[in-house]
Amino acid sequence: MPRVLLATFNLMPAGEPGGDLLTAALTECGIDSAWAEWDDPEVDWGAADLVAVRSTWDYHRRTAGFLGWAREVEAQTTLLNGAELFAWNADKAYLVELAEQLPCVPTALLDDRTLVSGLPEAIDRWGPSVIKPRVGASGLGVVVVRDLADERLQLLAPAPWVVQPLVESVRTVGETSIYVFGGAAVSQVDKLPGGDEVRVHEVYGGRSVPVPLDPERAALAQEAVAAVGRLGHRLPAYARVDVMRWQDAWVVSELELIEPGLYLDVDPRAAAPFAELVAAALGSNL
Ligand SMILES: Nc1ncnc2c1ncn2[C@@H]1O[C@H](COP(=O)(O)OP(=O)(O)O)[C@@H](O)[C@H]1O
Ligand SMILES: [Mg+2]
Repeated sequence: MPRVLLATFNLMPAGEPGGDLLTAALTECGIDSAWAEWDDPEVDWGAADLVAVRSTWDYHRRTAGFLGWAREVEAQTTLLNGAELFAWNADKAYLVELAEQLPCVPTALLDDRTLVSGLPEAIDRWGPSVIKPRVGASGLGVVVVRDLADERLQLLAPAPWVVQPLVESVRTVGETSIYVFGGAAVSQVDKLPGGDEVRVHEVYGGRSVPVPLDPERAALAQEAVAAVGRLGHRLPAYARVDVMRWQDAWVVSELELIEPGLYLDVDPRAAAPFAELVAAALGSNL
C-alpha cells in the first residue's frame, strides 16, 4: 500500500476540520495516510511515497522556514504542487502577474517607502482600497482605507503590502471558492462576511455555504490554474481559486496553491476528488 503523509501544524495535530473524511477517501483509493506536523523533527518525510501539504496554517508566520522545509521534503519524495509553486504563491505579488493573463482584482505593490505616494494614487484610481500584507493568511492585516489620514492605517501589518480596490460586492455577493483538482473544477463554496466586516473567514463572523458549481465561475477558476502553467510554473495538482464580483464581471481574488482548507466540515465533496488526485500523482511517480 502506498503511504502518504498529510502535513498539518501544531495547533491541529489531527489535521484540518473534517480531515478524517480525507483519510477515509484515501483508504478507499487503497492509500495509507497519516497526519504529521510539518515542523516535527521526528517525522521521516522521505519514507512517504508522497507528501500533501494541507493544514500548515502557521506558514505565514515563518514562511522562510516553511519554504525551506518544502524544498527538503521535495528532495526526498513527491511533494504535491511543490516548493517552487509554494514560493511563488506565498507572495500576493503573483496577482500582478496573473492579471496579465485573466481578469483579477486589480493589484499594486506598496512598501514603507512608496506608501505615502502609492496609496493616494490607488485611492484616486479606485476609491476606497484594501491594503494587506504580501505574505499573509486568514485575513490577517487586511485594512480598508479611504485616505492617508485614515486611522485604520495604524493597523497595518509589516510591509511589503499589496493594495487593491475595495470590492464592495464582497458584502452582498460575497466571495466564491472553487476547488480545481487536476485542472478540473470539482466543487464550490460561497462565503459571506458578517456584520461590518469584509473578511469572509468564520473567525470574523463569516459564513461558508456549499453550493453547486456555477459554470462561469468554474471556467474562470480552471482558466486561472491553466494560466499558472503559461507563466512558466508546474501545473498545480490542486488549487482553490477565489473569485469576486467586480465591475459586472467575475474576477480572481486569490489563488491558494499551498494549504487551501478543503472546508470538509461544511462540504465533504472535495474529499474523494482530492484522494483521486493523490492516487493519480502516486501512479505517475511510483
Ligand atoms: N480587495 C478586496 N476587496 C474586498 N474584500 C477583500 C479584498 N481583499 C481581501 N478582502 C477580504 O479579506 C479576505 C482576506 O483577504 P485575502 O486576499 O483572501 O487574504 P488571505 O485569505 O490570504 O488572508 C478576503 O477573503 C475578503 O473577504
Ligand atoms: Mg483568502
